[in-house]
Amino acid sequence: MPPKLSFRRQTFLGFQPPAVGDEEIAAVAEAIRSGWLTTGPRAEELERRFADYVGAKHALAVSSGTAAMHLALVALGIGPGDEVITTPITWPATANVIVHTGATPVFADVRDSDLNIDPERAAELVTPRTRAIMPVHLYGQPADLDSLWALGLPVVEDAAHAAESEYRGRKIGGLSDATCFSLYATKSIAAGEGGIVTTNSDDLAEAVRALTIMRRGHGSLYDIAVPGYKANLSDVLASIALCQLDKVEYHHSLRLRQVELYDSAAGELDGIEPVARDPRDTHAHHLYVVRVDPERAGATRDDYRQALADENIGTSVHFLPVHRLTAYRKLFPEQPPLPVAERAGAEVLSLPLSPAHSDADIADAIGALRAVHADFTR
Ligand SMILES: Cc1ncc(COP(=O)(O)O)c(C=O)c1O
Repeated sequence: MPPKLSFRRQTFLGFQPPAVGDEEIAAVAEAIRSGWLTTGPRAEELERRFADYVGAKHALAVSSGTAAMHLALVALGIGPGDEVITTPITWPATANVIVHTGATPVFADVRDSDLNIDPERAAELVTPRTRAIMPVHLYGQPADLDSLWALGLPVVEDAAHAAESEYRGRKIGGLSDATCFSLYATKSIAAGEGGIVTTNSDDLAEAVRALTIMRRGHGSLYDIAVPGYKANLSDVLASIALCQLDKVEYHHSLRLRQVELYDSAAGELDGIEPVARDPRDTHAHHLYVVRVDPERAGATRDDYRQALADENIGTSVHFLPVHRLTAYRKLFPEQPPLPVAERAGAEVLSLPLSPAHSDADIADAIGALRAVHADFTR
């Protein structure tokens, strides 16, 4: 047998490091010097500028994408006895927040093409108890919103991957009842932690605001209309998010170039298929995900992950089907099989993608992938 091919990089290539630098450091220092450690003028500026960016009437800064989704559901009045239809191919937070309200998550299988929620499956699951639909714009590809809106239920979008996304030419953020973004360390606007709810509804915005933080107002006496949470965003983190918002489109263009490099390479590798993107939409390119078909690619996704790690290339998995995770198997043991999601969960592999990476880094990832593929298929 010929010797095993290898491409080993000198240093480990992180899968998705944040692209932060001197501007962010200066902004944090200025926020601290200003004395605003908690929510203040920078969080307010972020809300104004983010609302403008996505074209929504209101943007509410909160402590995480998870809090954004949770508060949106609570503000819509969702609670025990209700059902919310969502996708199994997501970070568990999407389903967890439904559980946190006391409602039941109902998982609709995904489309084999882009792994977004399948509207036909969702329609079959609507009952008199269904109170909302929560699609995820997976990897930055908008879900099929028209078909979901046609179900006539409130739609709360999980747009954690979709800061730059456009659905049929319209920016994600001002289209459904509520849209929830994440400012987590790996996201397009990376503050470390944080989230934003956008909505065009004055009532929903007011309800989310009341749930986010309790304030004293002017004076020592106070009253509350709802027993709220503590989910506000500090100005220190907002100052990072503001720098990242300045660069969001530039960073998107850098990731797009990386996507093009991967696309041309993946075309040559039998059994390694990029997840589909819809040319009618603007994809945020939050993640570059391929499916590894073990029959044609000569090995499983997990074998590929290990072999790429041996080549000093970091990868990740987005996502394992939520309904098969221990908590969900225990909470909802009657869960029917979701064959498309279950197969996808075993095949998806996320390759390094970040504006912090150079073209040479991506060329290393591609070189390693080619070497590993050649080894598994020879
Ligand atoms: C699809 C999806 N939804 C929700 C979240 C939760 O966001 P956060 O980590 O800001 O709570 C994440 C990622 O972190 C995500 O990838």
